[in-house]
Amino acid sequence: MADDRFPGSTGAPKSSGLGAAANARLDEMNRLSLAGGGEARIAKQHEAGKLTARERLDLFLDPGTFVEVDRFVVHGCTDFEMDKQKVLGDGVVTGWGLVDGRKVVVFAQDFTVFGGSLSAAYAKKICKVMDLAMRIGAPVVGFNDSGGARIQEGVDSLAGYADIFLRNTLASGVVPQISVIMGPCAGGAVYSPAITDFVMMVEETSYMFITGPEVIKTVTNEEVTKEALGGAAAHASKSGVCHLTAPDDKAAIARLRELCSYLPSNNTEDAPRRPSADPTQREVPELDAMVPADASKPYDIKNVIRAVVDDAHLFEVHDRYAMNIVVGFARIGGKPIGVVANQPQVLAGCLDIKASIKAARFVRFCDCFNIPLVTFVDVPGFLPGTDQEYGGIITHGAKLLYAFAEATVPKVTVITRKAYGGAYDVMASKHIRADYNMAFPTAEIAVMGPEGAVNIVYRKEIAAAADPAAARSRFIEEYKAKFANPYKAAELGFIDEVIYPRMLRIRLAGALELLKDKRDKNPAKKHGNIPL
Ligand code: HXC
Repeated sequence: MADDRFPGSTGAPKSSGLGAAANARLDEMNRLSLAGGGEARIAKQHEAGKLTARERLDLFLDPGTFVEVDRFVVHGCTDFEMDKQKVLGDGVVTGWGLVDGRKVVVFAQDFTVFGGSLSAAYAKKICKVMDLAMRIGAPVVGFNDSGGARIQEGVDSLAGYADIFLRNTLASGVVPQISVIMGPCAGGAVYSPAITDFVMMVEETSYMFITGPEVIKTVTNEEVTKEALGGAAAHASKSGVCHLTAPDDKAAIARLRELCSYLPSNNTEDAPRRPSADPTQREVPELDAMVPADASKPYDIKNVIRAVVDDAHLFEVHDRYAMNIVVGFARIGGKPIGVVANQPQVLAGCLDIKASIKAARFVRFCDCFNIPLVTFVDVPGFLPGTDQEYGGIITHGAKLLYAFAEATVPKVTVITRKAYGGAYDVMASKHIRADYNMAFPTAEIAVMGPEGAVNIVYRKEIAAAADPAAARSRFIEEYKAKFANPYKAAELGFIDEVIYPRMLRIRLAGALELLKDKRDKNPAKKHGNIPL
């Protein structure tokens, strides 16, 4: 919606008729600046299924709120006869506007101008709005569609990228930064998106790689297409570089607006509350039967999450990557929360390298931006094996432990079933400063599962028994009765409350309300040393 406080400058403003000659020149300059790389290149962009930079901004920002700056900037390159080729704006559209009435700073690379390639002047435009975002505490959203460093400008262009990388780093944890990849993004240029908080890619029309198929073929003899190497599917499911995907530009922008709705403008604000018609004092009877009593039976943790959040809506992040853990945003009582949940349906919910990295980054994002964490635990442990050990599960698993331990936002945890071994400690346990820890009656909190434990503890007794199988079953039942429940942990105060599952939404809403003014801090330090 338009906002009178922030009238936009989209389109060529009309001259007033006063000072006609001067205004006519401005009319002409504005007209030229809107022309981008010309009609033919704009048509080519559309034929490729892509919107132009300005169309993307128009769709993204509330109507009529976009204010463009630096629309008359041109590059200063004189090599390769570039002084004869100047386009107003120089291939990137920068400025600010509103999203749901909140300020957002934007830049959109214009592929129709020199292939969206980055010159020194172009980099300065981006840096200028990033500096502004830091001063006013507004998120930065960048639409990437570029052939990379402008070849004609050489090291000047590389310097421009470095200026952006530095600002990405300094802005990290101060204002949210989101990169939307809507075309090529190659070479060192990928590192700006990689530093930002979220990378969204458009399927089939965007790709990211440090070097393309031709160089790969020359160096390693491997043949691969651009799509297989660095398309949205590859980065969403294999590398994890991409957090969110969309089938086309329009859908991507709709998802982007929704993502923004969960985020505060900066690290000093709380995330915005939305009115919700879903009552917080709502029992969820179906939850009583949702978690199978048989610990070996899988179930979809997303059903549990959806049952307790407002309007059953979960905005999942990284939904195709490390699916043994689920992360995303939702709301309870209209207020955004960050959800982290083991997924028993995939790898039985084990923590592995990818899941640890995925969840750690999400936890740290929520902690940077004051978004309370709600953690659902059903974890049999860390995934065993040489693949994991050689890949460094010790270091990577420690990332998640560190992230949860370091987080000072409200932390509410519910153990739905298994919480075994080190993974019990890691998954926002009481011991690493979770504020409110609940367990379902189906919870099993123990050093390890009954089968494994009995084989170790009763090895001699089982071997000596007349009927080893029967003895083993008996020991398993004994172990289950003693350890495979939440009551030992509750006895020790490690679980604040064992709840009837149907009460979960009510309890979560209550805990979040209780903790909304929580203040906690870590010891003063330059910065910690998370095991990267
Ligand atoms: C200058 C460029 C350019 C570039 C494209 N163009 N990339 N101009 N510098 N880097 C121009 C083209 O000359 C062309 O101009 C127009 O943009 C559109 O490009 P096409 O090739 O016609 O488009 P398309 O077929 O869609 O191919 C797009 C492309 C290809 C895949 C991006 O252009 C390409 O491979 N470009 C080079 C990519 C690259 O290697 N860049 C450097 C990466 S290294 P006309 O006038 O014909 O329309 C890097 C380092 C960053 O970026 C380091 C940071 C630390």
